Formats: sequence, structure tokens, C-alpha cells
Amino acid sequence: MAERVVADLREKCETPPSLLREVASEMAREMGAGLEKEGGSRVKMLLSYVDKLPTGREEGLFYGLDLGGTNFRVLRVQLGGNEKHVVNRESREVSIPPHLMSGSSSELFGFIATELAEFVADDKCTAISNGKKRELGFTFSFPVKQRSVASGTLVKWTKAFSIDDAVGEDVVAELQTAMEKQGLDMHVAALINDAVGTLAGARYYDQDVVAGVIFGTGTNAAYVEKANAIPKWEGELPHSGDMVINMEWGNFCSSHLPITEYDEELDKESLNPGEQASICIYEKLMSGMYLGEIVRRVLLKMSAHSSVFGNIDHTKLKTHFLLRTPHISAMHHDETPDLKIVAEKLEENLEITGTSLEARKLVVEICDIVARRAARLAAAGLAGILMKLGRDCSVEKQRSVIAIDGGLFEHYTKFRECLEITLGELLGDEAGKSVAVKHADDGSGIGAALIAASQSQYSNVE
Ligand code: BG6
Ligand code: GLC
Repeated sequence: MAERVVADLREKCETPPSLLREVASEMAREMGAGLEKEGGSRVKMLLSYVDKLPTGREEGLFYGLDLGGTNFRVLRVQLGGNEKHVVNRESREVSIPPHLMSGSSSELFGFIATELAEFVADDKCTAISNGKKRELGFTFSFPVKQRSVASGTLVKWTKAFSIDDAVGEDVVAELQTAMEKQGLDMHVAALINDAVGTLAGARYYDQDVVAGVIFGTGTNAAYVEKANAIPKWEGELPHSGDMVINMEWGNFCSSHLPITEYDEELDKESLNPGEQASICIYEKLMSGMYLGEIVRRVLLKMSAHSSVFGNIDHTKLKTHFLLRTPHISAMHHDETPDLKIVAEKLEENLEITGTSLEARKLVVEICDIVARRAARLAAAGLAGILMKLGRDCSVEKQRSVIAIDGGLFEHYTKFRECLEITLGELLGDEAGKSVAVKHADDGSGIGAALIAASQSQYSNVE
């Protein structure tokens, strides 16, 4: 019976190249529909109002705030003003106390402003002079409908956040109010998504970067679009002719996505169930927040319908989100002959003891199926962006770099390897040679500071 559960999962999670090509084409089509008109697609294709990306000549001292990943970060970056030179970079990382993720908006922003104030207080030697305000790039990794590069209202929360009174509010105004309460005289020069920040940070070092992508707690992508190819854009066309789009691709949905009963249940019980019938969304099939949870649900079914783990107490195994993606990554990469790490993780996290080697092998196989499906679907998304940009075939020998960050990509080696191999398969040999996937070290940290620099009220950098 346990083997049957695994065989069934394997079959339902299959992602043959033909299916992935359909997913890629649908992603490209949805991108077009989302640019066409507001609400034209589940892929929101939000305007970021970032119309110029770093050149390498940005200069000055800038702060960054990064909210939305596993940790909250504050940063201080001194940009050198000549070719790609970061003179100094300091940062502090704090985890957000879980109760603040579902409390009130003023509590969350109050916490952020307090942490920022402490960090700024350490800034003894690089204090800003001439009565200038310190300037800040705010990375807020949630869907935001922007009205300018430094303002925007929260559309909805994703991942583990759910603070009702913040939805529909301008997050920059909320932050500004909280900073004033702390006596912090700082100016928010830019509000950006983490995918946008990752694109900007990577572009600073390499002008061939065309997209920034996050595979972390959540997943998302941002890329550079021609402003005149955005029918829903109502303002004046920017001087550069370009506009960075925050896709919010986590909300992508397609009948081609291979969905199982586990995904459907997870979606139904999540904080933000898919709005359409029983269709699950992209992010829940492939981001760090959910992969461990999918595996837990499969293990529970397997254990409830067989004696694979013996006669165990299911209390822990029934607890949502107790098995996390780093745990499944550790089990998936277990190379010990008797799968000792798998045994340890099952025992530590789920109180499943005395497992047989056969049972442990099944657990590894489940992790493999779930992580491979995620990585292959992720590659299809990247192929979709390249398709939209006309960079998926070998006609032009233009180099295209996709900058990626996020804990899943950085730490889950088999996910990353499978993603890279699958993208190569989808693009074919010739096109594959002109496309590179790069880990964007520091994600949107430097990116936020750089965009703040290019939007600075004191700036003379073009
Ligand atoms: C970081 C970015 O490097 O990656 C963040 O700077 C982003 O803005 C994060 O949210 C994603 O990471 P995580 O913790 O969700 O894996
Ligand atoms: C979620 C958020 C998105 C963010 C992504 C990665 O999908 O909605 O804004 O970029 O997670 O952090």
C-alpha cells in the first residue's frame, strides 16, 4: 500500500517536456494578457515604476530594508560612484516574531522602525551631512499596486503573512509614520519587490541580466519590458523606454499544472486559497514555504493507509507545516548508506522512530518527486519569460542572464541542479548556450540601495 501511494504520486507529478512547453507558452501568453489590461490575467504584471536600472556609477550612502523572506534585514551601503564599486556594506538580520505576521499593521511597522532606528544609531562614522535626510530603498516582497516608484498599496498578503488592516493601504506611508514615531528622519526613495531588487542588484554587475527571480519562501519574477509594449500603461512613456515589471507569477494558474490531492487540500486549508475552483497556484507547487508541507501530507496518507512506519502516534505528522523544506532537503541529500539523516529528521520532527531502510527509501523518493516537479515547473516559468522576450531560440546570439536568489535555490542543491538541467532541455543546445542562470548573491539588498540611489532627491547620477 505504501508503495502504491508513492507510485500514484509519481504518476500524478509527472512533468514531461511536452507538458513543460505548454506551461512555458501559457506563462508567456498570460504575461501578455496581464500587460494588456488591469485584471487581464492571474499573473498581475505589476508596474514597478523602475524605468532605469543601475549603471555602475551610483554614488553615496543608502539604506535598505528587506521584508518578506525568512528574515527581515536592514542594510547600509556606501556606493563608490565609479565602475561597480561598493565601498562598504553592513547589514543586520532579524527574524520577524511570528505573532507580528498576523497582528496589526502598526505593530509590524512599529517593529520594523524600531529595528531600523537601532541600526541607524550605530551609524557613527558615516553620518549624513549638510542637513540631508538619509535615504532608504524599501524591499517589500508582496504584491503591491504602485502609483509611483516610492508609493504603493498592498494588494494582498502572501506566504505566512496575514494582517487585514494593511491590505489596501500605502505601505510607504505606514512605514513613514512608524519611522516618525521613532524620531527617524529618513526618506523612502524607492519601494520595490524582492524580484525587482534582485534584477537591479545583478544588473549593476552584469548588463546582460534580463530577469530577477526568487525561489525562496515564495516565488516571483521581474523582468525588463519595453514601455510601449504595455497597453495598460497610462502615463507618459519613460525616457529610457523601459519599465521593470513585477510579475507576481506565484499566482499563475494553468490547467497543465500537474496537481494532486495533496496540493488541493493544502490550497484549501491555506491562508490564501486560490480564488478559482479547485485549481492550485504555481507558488504552492514550488516554493520553500510549501514543499515540506506537501511531503508531510503524503507521509501522513502513506502512514494512515499502511504499516510503513509501524504503529505510530500521528499527532505530529498531522501538524501543519511541522516538516519544513530544509528538512526535506536534508533527507533528499542523505548519502549515508543506511539513510541515517532521514531517520534523524523523521524522529526529530515527526516523532517517527525505528523506521526500516525500505521506509526511509520511500521517504527520499517522495522528497525527490515533490522537489523535481517544483524545479521542472520553475524551469518552465523561466522558459516562458525568455519566450516572451524572444530570447528562447538561437536566432540572435544575444547573451541573456537570469539572476536568481532565495533560500530554495541557494540551499537545495538537487532543486537547483534539476532546474538548470530542465531549462537546458527546454531551450535546446543552441539557445541554451546563450542563456545563463546565476545566483544573485545578496538578492535585493544592494538592489534596493541602488534603486534608492537612482531615485535620490539629491542625486545627479543619470
Ligand atoms: C533575499 C532577498 O536574498 O532573498 C529577499 O534579499 C528575499 O528580499 C529573499 O525575500 C527570499 O528569501 P527567503 O528567505 O524567502 O528564501
Ligand atoms: C510571494 C510574494 C512576492 C514575492 C515572492 C518571493 O510570491 O507575493 O511579492 O516576490 O513571494 O518573496
